[in-house]
Amino acid sequence: MPRKIIIDTDPGQDDAVAILLALASPEDIEILGITAVAGNVPLALTAKNARKVCEVAGRSDVKVFAGCDRPLAHALVTAEHVHGKTGLDGPDLPDPTMLLQDQHGVDFIIETLRVEPSGTVTLCPLGPLTNIATALQKAPDIAEKVQEIVLMGGAYFEVGNITPAAEFNIYVDPEAAEIVFKSGVPIVVMPLDVTHKALVTAPRNEAFRSLGTHPGTVVAEWTDFFERFDKEKYGSAGAPLHDPTVIAYLIRPDLFTGRYVNVEIETQSELTRGMTVADWWRVTDRAPNAMFMGDLDADGFFALLTERIARL
Ligand code: RIB
Ligand code: CA
Repeated sequence: MPRKIIIDTDPGQDDAVAILLALASPEDIEILGITAVAGNVPLALTAKNARKVCEVAGRSDVKVFAGCDRPLAHALVTAEHVHGKTGLDGPDLPDPTMLLQDQHGVDFIIETLRVEPSGTVTLCPLGPLTNIATALQKAPDIAEKVQEIVLMGGAYFEVGNITPAAEFNIYVDPEAAEIVFKSGVPIVVMPLDVTHKALVTAPRNEAFRSLGTHPGTVVAEWTDFFERFDKEKYGSAGAPLHDPTVIAYLIRPDLFTGRYVNVEIETQSELTRGMTVADWWRVTDRAPNAMFMGDLDADGFFALLTERIARL
């Protein structure tokens, strides 16, 4: 029985690969819809990019919605320095022909959770948590209806990537993250602690390119573009492929290990805004609220990813 999901996203080359992985896995995943949020680039671009990605996979039937265009309490912070000015730099892809849905992404999330049987819909946020938090605030009744939230965001041992203390998705909208982590909804977190071990080394990127398919070539060219920032910054062997870890978890949770711990979000301090304070060593009596991942089988992850992208 495929798992019903809503992908909430700010494409972003790594978001794009996550969407392709989900579209390539119909036996595991049924995408009910994709909701775009402002993050890596402004909303108009993330909503456009989400449709571009669906069309790379020949899936103009997927419903794509625009959600919130700015964080709850702060001005939007974007990441063109990583993803380029379009947010999807690398290959030159045509403008999408498929249309955006008229409904606001937040209302789609609320309506879907109210219509589908309780406990059967998983939310997969890959960007700032603005849409998810807004839905929870507008319709508190949906919290108990969500099967699970599996998100990319935060960090503990890896600390920050946009500031010394915070990971980008949480940093952009820490108030939204606080609402999500206090919602009581079951949460699985894919932090930088995991994604920085999912590096697209040259052999791994060549495996995408040598598929000889349009999607395979596009994935390789996205990686060629966005790895330049991380390799220079971290001196790493390749770019961390952050967001596809969320989708891979739905298909092969055994690839990941972590701990069920308390995670709180810093929202007050300018210095540490957006920090995910994970009680990894259980030194407080704060109740655990998230499965915080710490490691993955990187070879297994890339084998799954390559095998599935080859299907498109
Ligand atoms: O910090 C990495 C996260 O921020 C990823 O989701 C990337 O796409 C950006 O949104
Ligand atoms: Ca993202």
